[in-house]
Amino acid sequence: MQNIKVGLLGFGTIGTGVVRVFQQNHDLLANRLGASLELVRIADLDTTTDRGVKLAPGLLTDDARALLNDPEVQIVIELIGGYEPARTFVLEAIRNGKHIVTANKALLAMHGEEIFSAAEEAGVSVMFEAAVAGGVPVISAIKENLGANNYSALYGILNGTCNYILTEMDEKGKDFSDVLAEAQKQGYAEADPTFDVEGIDTAHKLALLLSLCFGTKVDFNDIYTEGISKVTAIDIEYARDFGYKLKLLAIGKRDGDKIEARVHPTMIPEDYPLAAINGVFNTVRLVGDFSGPVMLSGYGAGMDATASAVMGDVLSVARDLQTDCSARMPALGCPQSQLANYTIKPMEQVVTPYYLRFNVKDHPGVLASIAGILGKHEISIESMVQPHRHEAEAVPIVFMTHVAEERNVIAALAEINEMDVIQEETLLIRIEDHLE
Ligand code: HSE
Repeated sequence: MQNIKVGLLGFGTIGTGVVRVFQQNHDLLANRLGASLELVRIADLDTTTDRGVKLAPGLLTDDARALLNDPEVQIVIELIGGYEPARTFVLEAIRNGKHIVTANKALLAMHGEEIFSAAEEAGVSVMFEAAVAGGVPVISAIKENLGANNYSALYGILNGTCNYILTEMDEKGKDFSDVLAEAQKQGYAEADPTFDVEGIDTAHKLALLLSLCFGTKVDFNDIYTEGISKVTAIDIEYARDFGYKLKLLAIGKRDGDKIEARVHPTMIPEDYPLAAINGVFNTVRLVGDFSGPVMLSGYGAGMDATASAVMGDVLSVARDLQTDCSARMPALGCPQSQLANYTIKPMEQVVTPYYLRFNVKDHPGVLASIAGILGKHEISIESMVQPHRHEAEAVPIVFMTHVAEERNVIAALAEINEMDVIQEETLLIRIEDHLE
């Protein structure tokens, strides 16, 4: 029986999950492959913490280079996370002819071109199913099962931590910071939770999905990125009153050789399937010209689900090794030389309806002045509420607008925020009510 040897870089939460799959499903994997899959080295700087799994003596080392230079290791699983030293190690492994399986979306969103080109040159695979939507097999679906489609749009709830926070705030009325602490305790959050709550993690994942779906290079810095830290329980409540749910949505749309690429809190109608995705669940809705809309959902974060995706990639590479057809599938589903260079539409050109929450002094004429400025900037109001008449000085006024161009909304808000009666900066939340 062939023996395929694997090395693991990074023994944190997901790494522990990977070891558990190797141990618990060892025979099942061998049976499915008709070959033995063996974890021969684990490298992590921390060799003392008890991760709750038993390891054979000598398996765990703090010497990553020993793993990278081990001629026996054919597949390297990179679960260090972050940019460095992950980038250096991955490039070194590729140069040494090893296939890569990684969950590192930050690394691939920033340095994908360099890594994918190096892999193509070396004739090795780079697989990253676990980098987007945890245990949901969205990348193989885009590249393989739906690979004959011309995609027009994709929508994603791609950060388990944010979705968990928004769901808990919605259902239990909890505070943002308490729920974030719970998510960190459960092992969903990134090492730096700013990446989660400020939308950066979602934008990393969107960058990869855009390249995969639209076959284009994407400059991560061009993706408009806004997180959920300014959203309050009150906005979630108002959203509900208007028949919407609030989600941190990743949006990608193709418009000729331009693409829309944005991550921001978004109100979606409560009867849309995306609105029902709660807690740590992630979902991706892909719109292909022949398939029509396809939605994939499942656990987007956490040790077991992410380890499942990592090990699916390991199995796939192992099968390629068995049949001697390594690097069968380019990392982004098409060769690097075939990637287009579409530009990302500037945010000011985006057209969508808006939720605007003003905090104002409750004086006669305030509402009329705000409405007047919105009208002057060609923003038409669909509905409006002044939810509570407080004893306090400041009251919220909420406007739902018809579709408007973002540049007009920004200009109107700049003018309104200058008014004496405005008590705090106006909150703007985009609405997406015509999902393809
Ligand atoms: N921190 C990420 C999340 C983990 O919360 O979704 C998976 O990338």
